[in-house]
Amino acid sequence: MSSALHITGGVPLSGQVTVRGAKNLVPKAMVAALLGSTPSVLANVPEIKDVQVVTNLLSLHGVEVGREDGRLSLDPSNVTTARHADIDAHAGDSRIPILLCGPLLHAIGEAFIPDLGGCKIGDRPINYHLDVLRHFGARVEKLESGIRMSAPHGLHGAKVELPYPSVGATEQVLLTATRANGHTELRGAATEPEIMDLIAILQKMGAIITVQTDRVIRIEGVPELTGYRHRAMPDRIEAASWGSAALATGGDIFVAGARQADMMTFLNTFRKIGGGLDITEDGIRFYHPGGDLNPLIVETDVHPGFMTDWQQPLVVALTQAKGVSIVHETVYENRFGFTGALNRMGATIQLHRECLGSVPCRFGQRNFVHSAVISGPTPLRAAEINIPDLRGGFSHLIAALAADGVSHVTGVELIKRGYEHFTDKLTGLGASFELDGE
Ligand code: EPU
Repeated sequence: MSSALHITGGVPLSGQVTVRGAKNLVPKAMVAALLGSTPSVLANVPEIKDVQVVTNLLSLHGVEVGREDGRLSLDPSNVTTARHADIDAHAGDSRIPILLCGPLLHAIGEAFIPDLGGCKIGDRPINYHLDVLRHFGARVEKLESGIRMSAPHGLHGAKVELPYPSVGATEQVLLTATRANGHTELRGAATEPEIMDLIAILQKMGAIITVQTDRVIRIEGVPELTGYRHRAMPDRIEAASWGSAALATGGDIFVAGARQADMMTFLNTFRKIGGGLDITEDGIRFYHPGGDLNPLIVETDVHPGFMTDWQQPLVVALTQAKGVSIVHETVYENRFGFTGALNRMGATIQLHRECLGSVPCRFGQRNFVHSAVISGPTPLRAAEINIPDLRGGFSHLIAALAADGVSHVTGVELIKRGYEHFTDKLTGLGASFELDGE
């Protein structure tokens, strides 16, 4: 059943929330367990929908997944094939099936990818993934219901160069190359902290991976990997989302578990806009120190740049800054759809096709609306909102929490893909809302 939130805005969020393992690491770490010959244990696992989807997909393939107190045990002793229709039914709108391909080809010689979804942000193609897998010797066959992969001659090391430092395609190479026969050289790799944490996991399993400067990763294939024990890195996107919520509502939130080293670029931006920070071993306090917020120029980019997933919550805070801010989105071609609802709530955000910035961008001359000009401060008023995607949706929640009046927000189950127990956290922060339909 679809659930809705009725949010009475205008209350500064104040208190403490805890972030656990990163949504963009945990599912991949679960997939890595498939590569081991013995069971793995992953700690600090959040209760989010994406974890449930991967649990279901792994179970379908014979992996025994147990859960106790945020700790997953994953036993890949009996990996087997699964029916295509079952994979399709359990994948939901997740893009994870594409990352199961390399490990499944190693384990059972075949894999299946149903037509993929994920958040509706641009086309989100999988061409890099398919090219990567072909380089390793996979045979790719298009079926009516999806894509079937096989590896009649096994998988071998390869020289791969990505056209863009894609997070998923880099993970694809790592998960495939570690057990491929021979050496792999990856050029143009993404180097996000979640990727480094995945590399740490693979190293614990016995993989030999060298990260060089200039986005080059070298992998020496090994015939066997064992299970791992690992504590997932914290979710730096969720941490930044709560930081932006503190700023937009004039509040004060301590995010327990947030780690400075993963968030340096966000913290710099937060400070430049005028937000207050206390950085400790246990977490980070984000607060509005009073007075005016400063307008900013922000360009999203691959790591170590400003993450595309930090952009949407921050835009809500920028509607409250005094002056004109500019956001140039260079990772996804179509990630400003969420601003329509903010404008209905009183924000002044204009979208442009031009690159309003200096980060080299693939979208400039191609008719994509990928730059935003935000004029503030604009008081926000309540509205009816249907959540479009995970991060845009969280930004709508923040706007509703900051707005004057009662907002009615539908489609909130999308938020559960990446924000653990978010309604409990909102209650703990003093938000005023009612939830129905659960
Ligand atoms: N791209 C292609 N072809 C491909 C793959 C990617 O053209 O085969 C393009 C994409 O369209 C995009 C760019 O490359 O323009 C970067 O995409 P990337 O592959 O890096 O993204 P991803 O791996 O699919 C992950 C996160 C996203 C996050 C991006 C960028 C997960 C599950 N998802 O996606 O997270 O925005 O990296 O950091 O790790 C989110 O958490 O809400 C989310 C969307």
